[in-house]
Parts: sequence; structure tokens; C-alpha cells
Amino acid sequence: MDTTITGKHINHRQLVLLPLPLQGHLSPMLQLANILHSKGFSITILHTSFNSPNPNNYPHFTFLPIPNTCEANIPDKDKQNIVSLFLYINSKFLEPIRECLERLMLEDKGVACLITDAQWFGTQSVADGLKLPRIVHRTSSVSSFLLFAVSPALLDTGCFRPGSYEESRSEALVQGLEPLKVKDLSNFLTSDPEGGCKVLELMAQATKRAQALIWNTFKELEEHDLKALSQDFPGPHFLIGPFHKYFSASSSNLLTPDQASLSWLDKHPPNSVLYVSFGSLVKIKESQFLEIAWGLANSKQPFLWVVRPGSIEGSEWLEPLPYGFLERIVEGRGYIVKWAPQQDVLAHNATGGFWTHNGWNSTLESICEGVPMLCSPSFGDQFPNARYVSDVWKIGVMLDNGFEREEIESAIKRVLVDEEGLELRNKITNIKWKVDRCLKKGGSSYSSLEDLVNYILSF
Ligand code: UDX
Repeated sequence: MDTTITGKHINHRQLVLLPLPLQGHLSPMLQLANILHSKGFSITILHTSFNSPNPNNYPHFTFLPIPNTCEANIPDKDKQNIVSLFLYINSKFLEPIRECLERLMLEDKGVACLITDAQWFGTQSVADGLKLPRIVHRTSSVSSFLLFAVSPALLDTGCFRPGSYEESRSEALVQGLEPLKVKDLSNFLTSDPEGGCKVLELMAQATKRAQALIWNTFKELEEHDLKALSQDFPGPHFLIGPFHKYFSASSSNLLTPDQASLSWLDKHPPNSVLYVSFGSLVKIKESQFLEIAWGLANSKQPFLWVVRPGSIEGSEWLEPLPYGFLERIVEGRGYIVKWAPQQDVLAHNATGGFWTHNGWNSTLESICEGVPMLCSPSFGDQFPNARYVSDVWKIGVMLDNGFEREEIESAIKRVLVDEEGLELRNKITNIKWKVDRCLKKGGSSYSSLEDLVNYILSF
């Protein structure tokens, strides 16, 4: 059945989407908006003024900034720390959000439902008060979500010691969620146990009360955890990802991608280059940066490395790099940019490996292009994502000792040069084929999207 909206459905089919103002959350929400728009819904994006999306890239949507009376006052310390940021916006922004929604509901178009990021947990009460269905969009994997949901209880059992994250790196398996380990629990539970637990509990409770969940993942990838998911969160669940494969590279970048990366890749043979990027939030120490640089240099493999300005503590950009690093030490084998067109880089046939922090978008993008990974998780869902990449799907290798030049050099060779790299590539290529199938007519994500459209139309 064609689920695109026509005729009688056309009224009251405005969807209001509320993304979290962080790159890794903004991109999938805007991709979801495009998918739903292609099904005939009209889209309003309710957004904060900081990290706001660029409306010029989406002339087909209505953009509505949340009135920023409260925003100007977000303390800088709260913008830097995601736990504080989540708690802050989920208290101070709720009243202006309620007012915006109320206004939209009075318009001719009406509002069919509110779709928010799971971390906008405070909006469940707002939606309840307005009798407006709220659907949660979870931007990460099912496995990491399940781990998040049990984390506060695990912390109570004492199996995870608050304090230093390094001291809490227990190899013990999390019962019922194997092969996840206690050390894969979010490290914000060690740095800020009280705040971290509060955020996770509020997110889980509000998600249980939501009407439904939309996931940027696909059934074949997460089969392992779907039973546990529907036991704990009755749903319905719509697994309709990977979102970024519905349309060509989407332009919700907050930074400008360096297109010259692609012409640099053009000069290299297939599967020869390591792409290195740790997403939009990770910050590293200068000592770690130098270990990365020496690990890359010593591996003797070509690399394209994204070093985000400000991502090295105490530096603006590349100041700590050894003198003559690219020309003299690496002898032209490396290229460093501030931000890359990542999806195109991963799709380029010269890219043979991806050294990633395993943010969920990066992980999915790598899977979709069949590029094996080196895993260096840093916080939050990145740990469980990396565990699945290395231990469940077996499509990458974990760097277990943080950033340490010998281990880096050996892991790069394992992925790019050794036989092991071929095995990883074969496994990930198999999953890539599943992605291609799940999006085609009759495939799992295709069908789930049809179900989602019908579900929203039933409100
Ligand atoms: C954050 C969290 O860190 C992550 O764990 C969570 O799953 C989502 O929110 P982020 O750290 O930015 O996201 O990582 P990720 O989810 O991988 O998203 C990064 C996005 O930026 C990807 O879509 C990637 O393609 C894009 N990117 C990154 C670029 O386009 N160019 C770059 O140079 C680097």
C-alpha cells in the first residue's frame, strides 16, 4: 500500500520535530524530517537558537526558534557539560516550548504529533498536558539505549564504582546485556554520578510514557536486542534507519566540510587510506594528540585526519604537532582537515579503514559503506557501540589502552595491511548488503516506515 498522504489526509498533518542542539543529534533528526516530508507530512522544526540548523538548506520546512528569553542565560559551564545541558534545557525551555506548541495546535494545519529527541525528556509532560501524542526519536543504537536504561540500577548494586573512570574499568559482563561490560557504562556516571543517573532515569521514564519510538537503525543489525527492548519498552518501535541512506549526503553540517579531502583521496589506490575522525564533541589532551600523530606516522599508511579546531585541550588547532610532521615525518602520506565531508569520504573507494570514536552516526555511516573500524570510544553510547563493533558484529578492532602509539600502529596495520583486515571487510560488506536490502520495497526498514506513516495517520 502506498502510504504517501493525499486528499482526505492532508489536514492536520503537521509534524513538529524538536532536535537536540548537538551535531550528532541534529543530523539524524533533520534526516528523519526529510523522510517524513517525502511521505507528505508538513514539517515544523522547533529549535534552540544555539547550534541552530540552517533554514536555507531546508526551504521545504518551517523553522521556529524557541523564544530565547531563557537561552541567553544558559551558563557557559552548562553548554560545555552535556549532563548539565540536558538538565538545564529540560527545565528552563519547557514553558516556551509549551507556548509554541499551543499556538501551532490552534493553527488551521493543526499538529498530528510531536517528535522529540529522547533527551528532551521534559517534553513528555508538556505533550501530556496538551493531549498531543509525543513520539521519541532515539538517535543511537538499541543496545546502548538498553544499557543506559539499566545503568542507574547497576550503579545502585555497587558493581560500578563512582570516582575515576579509569579505576572503574571492570571487565565484568552486564547480566542480561552480554557482551556489554561494566566498563562500557557511560563515563558520565563516574564523573557526575548523581547528574548522570538523573538524566538517564528521566530519559527512560519519559520514553516509557511516549506514544512510540523511532530508531535510526535497522532490524537485521539489532536483532540481538529487540526482545529485551519490547519487554522493557512496549513501544511500538519503528526501526526505519539508516536515515542518511534515503537521500544523498544531507547538509546539516554545523562546520564547513573540506571538499579537497576528496581530491586528495582520488590520488590513492582502493582501500589504502585510514580516515580518522572523532566526531563533533570529543576533546583530547595534547599528550593523546601526540600519541595519535606518532601512531599514524609510524604505521606508514596514508591517512586523512580530521582535527576539529578546539578539540585539543589548550590548543587552537595543530600547534602541538611536531615540526615538519606532514612533509618531513609523514613524507606527504597524511592530510589534515578541520572537518571532512564524512559520508563522501567513507564512500570513496580509497578509504580502507575508519578510526572512529563510535558515535552512532559515524558507526552507521561506516557500516553503510562497508569500511572496517578502529574503535576509540570516549563517552556515552560510544562505549557500547564500540563493543558491538568489535565483539558482536566483528567489524572492527578495539583500542583497549586509550591512545598509545604502539597499539595504534599495530591496530592500523591489522585493519589496513593484515589478513585480519580482509576478514573484517568481508563481514562488514555482508552487513552493508543487508542495509541495501532493508531499504528496498519489502525490506524491514521500508515496511517499518510504511507502518509509521499509517500509525501517525491514525492519530
Ligand atoms: C554525539 C555523540 O558523541 C554520539 O556518541 C551520539 O551517538 C550522537 O551524538 P558525535 O560525537 O558528533 O555525536 O558523533 P556521531 O554520532 O558520529 O556524529 C558525527 C556526525 O558528524 C556524523 O554524521 C559525521 O558524518 C559528521 N562528521 C564528522 C562530518 O560530517 N565531518 C567530520 O569531519 C566529522
